[in-house]
Amino acid sequence: MSWTLNPNVVRRGPLPKAVSAIMGRDAHREARAEIESWPGYRATPLLSANRLASRLGLGSVFVKDESGRFGLGSFKALGGAYGVRHVTRGRGGGGVTVTCASDGNHGRAVAWGARMFGCDAVIYLPTHVTEARADAIRSYGARVVRVDGEYDDAVEQADRDARRNGWTVISDTSYEGYMEIPRVVMVGYTIMVEEALNALRAWRPIREYDPPTHLLPPDPTDRAAAQATAGAAAPTHVFIQGGVGGLAAAVIGHLWEALGPDRPVAVIVEPAEADGLLRSARAGKPEASRGSLHTIMAGLSCREISPLAWEVVGAGAHAFMTVADEGVPGVMRAAAGGAMGPPFEGGESGVAGLLGLIEVARDGERRRAIGLDERSRVLVFNTEGATDPGWYGRIVRGGGA
Ligand SMILES: Cc1ncc(COP(=O)(O)O)c(C=O)c1O
Repeated sequence: MSWTLNPNVVRRGPLPKAVSAIMGRDAHREARAEIESWPGYRATPLLSANRLASRLGLGSVFVKDESGRFGLGSFKALGGAYGVRHVTRGRGGGGVTVTCASDGNHGRAVAWGARMFGCDAVIYLPTHVTEARADAIRSYGARVVRVDGEYDDAVEQADRDARRNGWTVISDTSYEGYMEIPRVVMVGYTIMVEEALNALRAWRPIREYDPPTHLLPPDPTDRAAAQATAGAAAPTHVFIQGGVGGLAAAVIGHLWEALGPDRPVAVIVEPAEADGLLRSARAGKPEASRGSLHTIMAGLSCREISPLAWEVVGAGAHAFMTVADEGVPGVMRAAAGGAMGPPFEGGESGVAGLLGLIEVARDGERRRAIGLDERSRVLVFNTEGATDPGWYGRIVRGGGA
């Protein structure tokens, strides 16, 4: 499988201005106030995969488990619904139709947000998205349109139809002339990252400064104190699965914002057949994947990357790697069976970051290249649970994919 260190990574120093313009602290605060007010909001659990850590010879491995997020099964609930909120704020949802392309999870989030904020939703799904995932989207009252093609064909069709019909596109990926809403969607994801940091702070109780979990430090003095204490428990490494790159941008950008130069080493993990971010790292600019896009990790199956996300990921990620589909079922089973620590429901795309970690930790050269050792505190995100329960059940019971 492929692996590349990022020759353009900004190793030292604070958050670059270009990144703070995308993911700034005020934007995060605003998203947090909004999303925490939604019915059913609860921070998702942070689990300590202690068995995995000792098997891999690492200090600790923390898994932020998004499988229960708002009952939607993935972290995408934070971004898509926040995008809908952004366009309906101040004018209500009546008469508004929102639309997007999706590999499944983003469409579900937009459909759920549309129902919450009173607008109509039309979701475009490429061929590889299963009917169970389409049904989940319909269950929120959205209309599903099937596109005979890849994710990127669905993006184009959603954009074309939106122009024709006066609909508003809530996309998780950016493209030329369309940047603001994907930016807002990525800011929504940062809530998950802040929750993880808060949980880590609580893991080793802070003596002098212990912010309530629902509040950010209120002023710069407190913030400095928070950073100092957070440094004691902050992750040293983070492994993040990549599709268009929005998740990775949110994780890297927020950790950079919160921890400054002490931010963790970030490794991006993609399916071998959908490796646009890795190719972009090698080219030093956004490049499309040339893979088949056929992968069990359906949420990560896209050809083009998000140029806006790349602004953050291209500067902030330390390494890029791909993983093969074959490794995924074993990690899903290990997660479900409690072989890594407390059991959790890890979906096909959800465990990709963990799979990347396991492969790097077992490879002496890669391990050394990113300074992974028995003192490392690694953070990963289980970004989805059983978003297609039939498929999940077959894999976890051992029937294969
Ligand atoms: C479960 C899951 N994990 C990770 C991702 C990757 O996010 P992004 O496309 O923003 O890189 C997706 C995207 O749909 C997803 O559904």
